[in-house]
Amino acid sequence: MGVLINEALSIGWPLLALLAGLLVYSQISISDPVAKKRATFKLFIGMIAACMLLVAIANYKTSFYEANRMLPVSLVIITALAFMMGIYFPNQAALLKIGGFMFLVAAALSGYGNWLPQVEGGFPPPDVKLVFDAMTPQQLADEGEKIIFGGIGQNKVQGAIGKGQCPLCHAFHKGMLGERAPNLDGLPERAGKERLEDPNYHKGEPAKREYAEKEACPGCGTATTGQEYIAESHSCPSCYVVSGYGVKGTNDKESPMPKIHKPPISLSLPELAAVDTWLYVREGREAPTYEEIIKSYEKFIPEADRPKQQEDKPAAAAGALLADGSEPVDQIFAKAQCVVCHTIPGIPGAVGTQGPKLEEGTNAPNRIKDPAYKGTAHTTSDYIMESVVSPSTYVVKGFPDNLMPKVFGQKLSAGALKKIVDYLSQVKAGSPPPKIS
Ligand code: HEC
Ligand code: HEC
Repeated sequence: MGVLINEALSIGWPLLALLAGLLVYSQISISDPVAKKRATFKLFIGMIAACMLLVAIANYKTSFYEANRMLPVSLVIITALAFMMGIYFPNQAALLKIGGFMFLVAAALSGYGNWLPQVEGGFPPPDVKLVFDAMTPQQLADEGEKIIFGGIGQNKVQGAIGKGQCPLCHAFHKGMLGERAPNLDGLPERAGKERLEDPNYHKGEPAKREYAEKEACPGCGTATTGQEYIAESHSCPSCYVVSGYGVKGTNDKESPMPKIHKPPISLSLPELAAVDTWLYVREGREAPTYEEIIKSYEKFIPEADRPKQQEDKPAAAAGALLADGSEPVDQIFAKAQCVVCHTIPGIPGAVGTQGPKLEEGTNAPNRIKDPAYKGTAHTTSDYIMESVVSPSTYVVKGFPDNLMPKVFGQKLSAGALKKIVDYLSQVKAGSPPPKIS
């Protein structure tokens, strides 16, 4: 509104000055009290009308293309103006009233289109489907930050996490704990230097690699630039494993990181380009162009494996949940990455070893009995819930504190948490696993 008033004044100050001048002049020059009163009244109405007209013009000038609540308001203003003009031009009063009425109809129609479904609609704004290739680096970086952390400016917020799920495992700032995965601070710098030059990387000679996978796809080869290294890291984590971070027991041959373009994360190439751009821009570095980044991914992700960008959902619904509870429980465990760290009987692919095997029907009662237990749970269900939403309340012996993410209380729906609790409470050592529902 402040902007509109400034704009209105900048367009219309000569008109307002003229009317003010006339007002002063009429006060001095007209002596008949009745005529004076009438002139004052007309000029006063004129001033108000002029102000309204100017605000309406300013509104069109500043936001003509946007779906916008001021549109019907300014049409109503023009309607009122038309009727006011009738006072000045009695001969044209009928014409002005008809015109005014038409503006009123227009106001009603645009009000219907713009006001009511303001949340989702009116005119589709041009970027409902995000056009990544037309963005500036900063805009692209902002989208990347949304994908990683769930919102712009969220990158330093503890527990912020978006659909990319990276903060489940990675820290992004110097000095922040990164036991699960390398801290991604300084990645653009080390990608092209340290990593590609590491003899274990076997630049240009994928056949010599000693990792779970040699190439992202047959004939993909290895990265030749820092950006390609980043693309390869995202699409084939087990093609090169940063030493010390491999899946336990595999001697760093296999990476626990999921392929980011595959379900459940399934980032499209444009989304990956946004993520990468953020990694450069936030360090004040010049990012490769959008086209260069896309090319780097095309090298490692064959056409058929590229996820389509979802058109119905904007890239990163801010604060999106990892699972909403409508999924069967095995998918919830997969989407929330529990499977990466935990072995869960009955859940395909849940073979992680960084956390305890989740036989909670057996474990939970023992944990509660432990004299070291300081939590508030008295039942198996309560213990599981507490362990998931507040992992540091009780740290299972032999496992590190702060390794399990502390975000699940915010990032899983109540329904998803309930399914997890129901399932895990039925898992008992030595018994067949419960049914998935
Ligand atoms: C389940 C845990 C997990 C998730 C989720 C995850 N990563 Fe990783 N990531 C790792 C681990 C562990 C490594 C180190 C082993 C390796 O080299 O693959 C790694 C390695 C990397 C590397 C190479 C780092 C280096 O210093 O060379 C990059 C880049 C990377 N991840 C980016 C991402 C991005 C971006 C996301 C989100 C879109 C993500 N990761 C999600 C666990 C994860
Ligand atoms: C990055 C690895 C990691 C991820 C991801 C992870 N956890 Fe954990 N979890 C751990 C570790 C390590 C422990 C043991 C230390 C502790 O108690 O905090 C643990 C402990 C637990 C416990 C207590 C186990 C017991 O026997 O007392 C439960 C229950 C649990 N996790 C459930 C989950 C669920 C459900 C998910 C997914 C929503 C999940 N965890 C994701 C690492 C992880």
